[in-house]
Parts: sequence; structure tokens; C-alpha cells
Amino acid sequence: MLKGKHVLEPMDLSSEDLEEIFELADNIMDSPEKYNEICKGKLMASLFYEPSTRTRLSFESAMYRLGGQVIGFSEPGSTSVTKGESIADTIRTVSNYADIAVMRHPKEGAPRVASMHSDIPVINAGDGGHQHPTQTLTDLLTIRKTKGEIKNLTIGCCGDLKFGRTVHSLIKALSNYENIRFVLISPEELRIPDYIKKEILIRKNIEFVEYESLEDNIDELDILYMTRVQKERFFNEEDYVRLKDSYILNKEKMRRAKEDMIILHPLPRVNEIDSEIDEDPRAYYFKQTKNGMYVRMALIAKLLGAI
Ligand code: CP
Repeated sequence: MLKGKHVLEPMDLSSEDLEEIFELADNIMDSPEKYNEICKGKLMASLFYEPSTRTRLSFESAMYRLGGQVIGFSEPGSTSVTKGESIADTIRTVSNYADIAVMRHPKEGAPRVASMHSDIPVINAGDGGHQHPTQTLTDLLTIRKTKGEIKNLTIGCCGDLKFGRTVHSLIKALSNYENIRFVLISPEELRIPDYIKKEILIRKNIEFVEYESLEDNIDELDILYMTRVQKERFFNEEDYVRLKDSYILNKEKMRRAKEDMIILHPLPRVNEIDSEIDEDPRAYYFKQTKNGMYVRMALIAKLLGAI
């Protein structure tokens, strides 16, 4: 039962919950007109303390497409946060105005704190370098649609695996599926955090390897999940400049990839995927953004008990 739940990290959703959400997302994609009033009279609060294009706009588009309405902010500087208001007090107030809240915040754990003081479901739309569960829903739906099912896959995650919250959430979620193997490709300094290795991969006995080279290992992969080196999470410019061009996916590297390997990326990209790849039939990152809207429609509808 999803009605009224908070969604703060992928583990908040069971395999049954995920299947329910994906089935509804598929149905919405097939017949969107059947769902265009199911959230009529409901309000979503969109609380973005950090920049976003895809997550904010796909959530807002999702709510409008379900017949609901949206209030909120994307410039926290125009709110009472500037006067020192706490997350707890903000969400207590927002709970009086809206039926569901979506929060992105630069501080890890901020959406969890909000959920502890909220009378309405809170969805984590990305908290610092921690988790991004609805990006994971987007990624899983895309894998399911392109590969038919989520099992027996070698998944390469490449780039900034230290700060990349989308990778952390994806590994957590995929750890529940059968026969998934990870190839983790990053510079030494941007390796996957120990807590993900120990608490997820090692504890659940999931096969993984860590490499520094993309070109030497791309031929093993069924899915390549590229990520951006995240300037905003670095403590100094010098380290960012040194690491930012560690991986650039281009036609030459793609020659070694499987014919049916798919390329995913949560976006935004900077230069880690050359635009010459965009026309490659294996490039799924823009289709992925559309799936993100449908899966968020399904999630909102389920959390509001609209279906
Ligand atoms: N994938 C993602 O979170 O993109 P935005 O930062 O644009 O929302």
C-alpha cells in the first residue's frame, strides 16, 4: 500500500511497490487521457532548494497532467529560509497548504528531517551526494522497457561515483534484483563510497569490480550508466579541473561496446558523452527523461491514493 508513504530512498519501496508503479506508468504512457483528472483538486508543493531542470519540471508536469496543481519555489532565496526558518517549520507550514511535497536539498538527510515533521507524503528529489530515488525509478523503468526485465545484467557505472547520488540510489535498488553484476569505473578519488560497498554490495553478496579505464571494459557491459563529475560537490577548483575530463564517451569507445548495450545518463551532461553519440540507437538518455515524467505521474497518483 503506497498511499501516504514518504519516499526518501529506494529501499522505501518494496519490489511489489515498484512493480505497481511501473505497471501504472506503462498504462499512463499507453492511454494518458484516462488519467488526466485523477488528481483534480490536489496540490503538490515543489520545494527546490537546489537547481534542477528534469526533476522539478517532470514532477510539475506530472502533477498538471494528472489534473492537479502545483505551488512552491525554486529560488529558496525568495522564501523565509533567508530569515532562518528551519526545514521542520517550513514543512509543517507546507503540510497545511498541499497534499504532497517534493523536496530537493543540498544537505544530505534534509528530506528525511522534513518527513519527520510532515502530515503529507514527502518525496526526496535529491539530497546532496546521498540519494535520488525518483531518478532511480526513471532508470529502472528505462531498463525494464529496453531490456524486457531487470535481471541477468552487467551494469557499468562510470564517472563520479563518490558524489553521484543517482548511482548510489541505483545500486541500492538494483541490489534487490536477480543476477546483477556491477562494473564500477571511476578515478581513484571518485570511487563509490565505502558504505555502499559494505552495506549493499558486500553484505548482499553482489558481484562487483572497480576499474579506472572505460575503454578497456566497455565490451562487458549491457548497460552503461554515465555520470557527470559534479563541480558543485568539490571542495576545491583544482581537483575538479584535474578530474572533470576523466571519461568522454565517443564513437571510438562505442565501437567496442555490445550492439545492444544501452547508454543511460541522469543528465545534465557536461562533456562526458560527446554529442556525436546522441544519434546512436544505443543512446537512451533523452528517452529516459520522458520515462521520468511518466514514472513520477504513477508515483504521485499512488502516494495520493488517486488510483
Ligand atoms: N537527473 C536530474 O536530477 O536532473 P536535474 O538536476 O536537472 O533535476
